[in-house]
Amino acid sequence: MLDVYMPMMKSSAIISAGRLGLFEALANGPLSVAQLAEKIQSSLKGTAALADFLIALGYLEKQDQRLANTASTQRWFTSLGQVDYTPGLLWTHEAWPMMGGLAEAVRSGHPEKTLWDAMIEQSHLGELFSSYMAAFASDLGPDLLRHVPVLPEQHRLLDLGGSHGLHAIRFCQRYPQLNAVIVDLPSALTETGATIENEQLSDRIRLSPGDLQAQDWGNEHDLVFYLSVAHNHTAEENRQVIQRIGETLSQGGLLVIHEYLAENPLDALDAAFRLTLLVETGTQTYRYEDYCQWLTAAGFESIDRIDLNPREKGSLILARR
Ligand SMILES: C[S@@+](CC[C@H](N)C(=O)[O-])C[C@H]1O[C@@H](n2cnc3c(N)ncnc32)[C@H](O)[C@@H]1O
Repeated sequence: MLDVYMPMMKSSAIISAGRLGLFEALANGPLSVAQLAEKIQSSLKGTAALADFLIALGYLEKQDQRLANTASTQRWFTSLGQVDYTPGLLWTHEAWPMMGGLAEAVRSGHPEKTLWDAMIEQSHLGELFSSYMAAFASDLGPDLLRHVPVLPEQHRLLDLGGSHGLHAIRFCQRYPQLNAVIVDLPSALTETGATIENEQLSDRIRLSPGDLQAQDWGNEHDLVFYLSVAHNHTAEENRQVIQRIGETLSQGGLLVIHEYLAENPLDALDAAFRLTLLVETGTQTYRYEDYCQWLTAAGFESIDRIDLNPREKGSLILARR
């Protein structure tokens, strides 16, 4: 029972801290329990009970009788850290009730309702999911810049499933010759136009809302991003998408795939992610060999795999025709 009870309490305590803004409240320095309670507009009794558990978990620590974030909490869950994954806590709060349908998804082999349909019904879900993806993207961004070469004569970037727009923005900022098109479902793009405008890139980055499988993306792209999108599609859909990318990529152009590649045997994180996908989208992760097969069939000749560090960040596949 401890395997059931403790992860539930651990997860809900960390999520609650995110929802209450507790980690952010401590970002500028330690506070007494009373000061913290006041800052997060919560009861003294409740704040003390939550803080006690977060200390036991190693998320908070005591400094001269005051409460402080540990270095790791400060780094991953505050605006002053390396990446603020608080949107991931807010998203996981929404994912809890979805996981209540896991037994039914196992029985039927597919979600009762896909994430994308849920986002149409509840518009706040799309915005929240995109901001969670944006946190991942700010973590992944430096790896992409390091590993993805862009030549001066390459001008046209197509970002399939580009969501928050951070990857297209980062590459347009680094390479002044680039223009980009972001294709994604309307639910994922609600904030993207404003983000692009804030970065003063509206004249270089265009949004193209719609289903990437149904849409005409235009042709002749020099660089195509398919970043963390393949696991949201079936094997046949991926085969077709990669075939179409192959047909529209310019000579010397580059396709960049970011994915969590299924290994044999699956480790616990891979297997957990596959269960999540069973409930949320009805799709799965694929093996590196699957990508190689789709890419080779689409005429790609050079295929490179880069496993990122740490491993949980997934892998990049760079393919040229
Ligand atoms: C896991 S997120 C990755 C977002 C972004 N590429 C990144 O790396 O941060 C997957 C994205 O694919 C989009 N997506 C899923 N199915 C789609 C479809 N059929 N057409 C267009 N976009 C789709 C989702 O809306 C979501 O924004």
